[in-house]
Amino acid sequence: MGIIEQIRQKAAGQVMRIVLPEGEEPRTIEAAAILRREGLARPILLGSPDRIRAAAAERGADITGVDLIDPACAPQRPAYAAELLELRRAKGMTQEKADELSADPMYFGVLMVRLGDADGLVSGALHSTGDMLRPALQIIRTKPGTRLVSSAFLVECRDKSLGQDGLLIFSDCVVVPCPTAEELAHIAVSAAQTAKDLCGIREPKVALLSFSTKGSASHELVDKVREAAQIARRLAPDLALDGELQLDAALVPEVAQIKAKGSPVAGAANVLIFPDLQSGNIGYKLTQRIGGAQAFAVLQGLARPCNDLSRGCSVEDIVNTVCMTAVQAQNA
Ligand SMILES: CC(C)(COP(=O)(O)OP(=O)(O)OC[C@H]1O[C@@H](n2cnc3c(N)ncnc32)[C@H](O)[C@@H]1OP(=O)(O)O)[C@@H](O)C(=O)NCCC(=O)NCCS
Repeated sequence: MGIIEQIRQKAAGQVMRIVLPEGEEPRTIEAAAILRREGLARPILLGSPDRIRAAAAERGADITGVDLIDPACAPQRPAYAAELLELRRAKGMTQEKADELSADPMYFGVLMVRLGDADGLVSGALHSTGDMLRPALQIIRTKPGTRLVSSAFLVECRDKSLGQDGLLIFSDCVVVPCPTAEELAHIAVSAAQTAKDLCGIREPKVALLSFSTKGSASHELVDKVREAAQIARRLAPDLALDGELQLDAALVPEVAQIKAKGSPVAGAANVLIFPDLQSGNIGYKLTQRIGGAQAFAVLQGLARPCNDLSRGCSVEDIVNTVCMTAVQAQNA
């Protein structure tokens, strides 16, 4: 069974409330109908109920039983505005601005999650990554023990000898452009947690990637990866983790034997940590476009799960992302 099938099954096992701020968007409405029909989540669509119902009728989507909330006239709005004011007062938030933002579906949705009226949030069919991330970072903030929000891709490779039966976790490919050594260490620890919680990988094996293996090259960029590995070992002493490693030493047992003998993860890594966003983003797209792998993205490190879609997403992509969010919410 593929990873997404496993995640769908887990989502159905404990139904979570997932808010979709882009509730008037036709693909989102169709996805909500499927999620409700298949019992994968309890979707909440934000927007004008009249417009949502009209769009659903036009697409032939049955949204019976899907919760519809119009932020502009919702009874929760004053309480959400008060929470927003309290949270962001020191950053210059005013009563007037908080009142205005509480009607914005993205802020309303994030506040629902913060206040426990929803278990998670998915958006991005219309908005950019930054539009969703900023309110989530400001309002939901990070999990205890983590200072950093980053992303992980679940990469399902054709070659089942790689990682865990062909499944690899790549991180970070979306959020932190140029991590410090300490930030890289936090990314590594979060990615291992994602491997456990979302993918059921019992023993994450984390490789911090570089163009050098164990001192084969000297450069300040290599030093940063090595330092990140040391910090990560202090943060999570029981985690199987090593770095710096080249990609082939991380994945291929024969190469690991030559380049990194005795490493606890070389040749068997299932979590790959990229040194910066350029390499991470290019890396996952290479495996997808040239290697024919499937890749599914989630955010990690937020206190409660919020996830982003690509603007070119399909209805199925939205359903899958909601299911991943639901499983993260089960573990939050
Ligand atoms: C994540 C991102 C949107 C943050 O934007 P930003 O302009 O740096 O936002 P700000 O600096 O105003 O930060 C907003 C708040 O979030 C916090 N924050 C920013 N990045 C954070 C992170 N990765 N983890 C935790 N908190 C973070 C800031 O400390 C700030 O908190 P505060 O307002 O309470 O002080 C930005 O890093 C980004 O655009 N990343 C790349 C995303 C992207 O384009 N990816 C493309 C690949 S698909």
